[in-house]
Formats: sequence, C-alpha cells, structure tokens
Amino acid sequence: MEYVVILGRQPEFGLAELESVVGAKAIAPFGNQAALLRKSLDLNHLGGAQKLGRILYRGPAHDLNEAPLNLNELPLREGKTNFGLSYYGVRATTKFVTAAGLTLKKRLRERGSLRLVTPQEGTTLSAAQVKFNGLIGKGFELLIVVADQEMVITITTQVQDIDSYAARDYQRPARSAKVGMLPPKLAQLMVNTTSAGLIYDPFCGTGVVLQEALLLGREASGSDLNPEMVEASRENLEWLSKQISLPKLAASTAELADAREVRLPPGPVGIVSEGYLGPNLSRKPTKPEVAELQQELLELYSASLRSWREQLPKGAEVTITIPAWQTQDGIIPLGLLDRLSDLGYTLKSFAHTDTRNLIYRRPGQAVGRQLLIMRTH
Ligand SMILES: C[S@@+](CC[C@H](N)C(=O)[O-])C[C@H]1O[C@@H](n2cnc3c(N)ncnc32)[C@H](O)[C@@H]1O
Repeated sequence: MEYVVILGRQPEFGLAELESVVGAKAIAPFGNQAALLRKSLDLNHLGGAQKLGRILYRGPAHDLNEAPLNLNELPLREGKTNFGLSYYGVRATTKFVTAAGLTLKKRLRERGSLRLVTPQEGTTLSAAQVKFNGLIGKGFELLIVVADQEMVITITTQVQDIDSYAARDYQRPARSAKVGMLPPKLAQLMVNTTSAGLIYDPFCGTGVVLQEALLLGREASGSDLNPEMVEASRENLEWLSKQISLPKLAASTAELADAREVRLPPGPVGIVSEGYLGPNLSRKPTKPEVAELQQELLELYSASLRSWREQLPKGAEVTITIPAWQTQDGIIPLGLLDRLSDLGYTLKSFAHTDTRNLIYRRPGQAVGRQLLIMRTH
C-alpha cells in the first residue's frame, strides 16, 4: 500500500465508493477515518475523499519527531517553504500539533527556512488552508494517521477541490430549496457506485445527479413529475454546457414523467437517484407523523422499483437514496429494505462497509438519506 486517503465526514460512504471504484483488495481501512490505497487516485473523481497522501513511513506508532523518517525526502525550496501537519486518529490539541511542527522546523533548519501553518482548530489543516498556503507544490503538508499501535506518515499529494464543488452547487442558475439540495459530492459518490455508461435519474429534480454523471464521463438523462423541476434540470444542463465542453452532454435530456410509470431508455442503463423525501419538515417528526409518511412513500418506492425491474435486465445497477427520519427517539428508516428481495433487488455487499446501514445525515436535519446500492436479480 503506497497511499493514504482521508475519508469524508461519514467515512463509511467514502469506503463504499472507493471499493466500488478500485475493488476491495486495493484498499484497507486504516483507523476510523482513513484507508490505505495501492495506487494514487484522482480526488476530483471521488465525492467521499478529502485528502490523499503518499506514504513516507508506515510502522509502529512514534512521536513524529522520533519516527524513522528520511528528512531529505521533504521538499524544501529556495527562500521560505510553508509547511504544516495534520494528525488523524489521535486525541490531541492544536497546541500539540504546533509543538510537533516547531520541533520539525528546528530539525530542518540546516536545510532551509520554513514557516509553519497551524490548524485553525483541532489537529488538522482544512483543504482551504492547504490550498491557500501552497502546501502542495510550493510547500508540504505531512498527514499523520494513527490507528491502534500503528501509524503512517505521508506527504499530501492532493486535497478535495472544495471551490469546484461549491461552484457546481451554488452557481447553477436553477436551484430549489423546496426539493432539498443534493450535495454534488454525494451525487458523485452515488454515480461512482455504478459502472453503467448511461445513468438515468427518475426523480431528477434540479439535475445534480445528471450533472455529476456527465462530469464523470457518463451519459445522463432523467425525468421528474414536476414540470418546474424538468425545466430546472434543462436550464442547469444548458448552463453546464457553457462552463465545460462535455461530449456526452448533447445527448442528455430531462423529461416529464412519473417515476412509477417512466419508460427507461433501452440498452444498458444504471439508475442513480435521490428519491422523493416527502414534504419539507421544519422540525423532527413525531412517531405517528413518520408512520403516515412511511405508508405513502413505501408505496411510491415499491411501485417505482417494481416498474423499473420489469424494464431492466438482471444485474442492472440501481443506487438510490430514500428518506430516514430523525426523531426524538432516534432514526426511523423507511422500511423498504425488507421488501427489496421481493421487488427483484439485492443490496450489493461490500468487504469494508455494511451496506444495510448507510444513512447520510447532518445533525439537526429532520430527514436523512439512506443509501441503497443495489443490483437487480
Ligand atoms: C429530493 S428531490 C430530488 C432532487 C434532485 N436530486 C436535485 O438534484 O435537485 C425529489 C424529486 O422527486 C420528484 N418527485 C416526487 N414524486 C415523484 C414521482 N412520483 N415521480 C417522479 N418524480 C417525483 C419531486 O418533484 C422532486 O423533484
């Protein structure tokens, strides 16, 4: 294993994505928030990864300044070199990171002059700090991950391009708070759990899945029950075509259709979709409120999945998110899992992730999204 990847806020999602893209054997989880990788990967193509580092040392856990590290491998340049440290998997303070950085600076004094960049909070530098201070290319960041008694010390080779994700989210002309906004990162991750050349989204809303599928080099089309949403998707695709030249974009369309009756395109198609989450909730729902929503939405999803299954061949890939409600008493899932087999679907199983329990949520949010990564059987 030569690289380490730092996974996103919900690491189990990033692991499922990585396993889908490179296969189970090319990765090994390392601690709670990282994975070891055989080969380098392009983070621009992964929604669930934050940072990538090339391993300089892997072995028993040491204090950074006592680890057998070849300091000549650290790239210093003429004049001043900015550098920083990020620690993952340790219980420590910013002060601890600063002290380790200052010791390293002293040890490197003979090789040149350095400026230490310290974390704004906690033990890790943000992607924005790494970028702003030129820590890739002009300077360096050491990314240190500790898992049990083992550690890796790596030099960061790439961080997530947060500006690009923000632009793909906030600069799109047609946005809608009503349908909820699927973060482009999550849409990208969902597309990555499939390999089909053509992605279809039957609940396309404003078209985030279509956009991310196109950016990953897939063809993409979709439909929605709401004419305003169909128009929004079209407008956003039009905007995308002006930002970037994408050969597959000309063939993509959004049409008006009910997901329970939509005619899927012929040929090998994968479905990737953030399904309808129910009405907007301003507060956590009560148990009886959830029961009512469950009944309505179970019908919608069962009918949709049944209809798609009739049109898809065996082995087709279907990745969707369905609602899971955060109540005072904890999370209540939709309850679709038990019906999947009868509907003709099997959850894909992963070596490194429990796919029965992938719920994407933010604290305080009333509705979370449960990710189902499936195949037809
Ligand atoms: C959570 S939103 C999807 C948002 C989308 N991911 C985006 O990028 O904006 C769910 C969408 O499902 C649509 N919808 C609700 N019921 C539907 C149905 N029966 N068939 C098709 N679309 C439906 C809604 O109009 C809404 O746009």
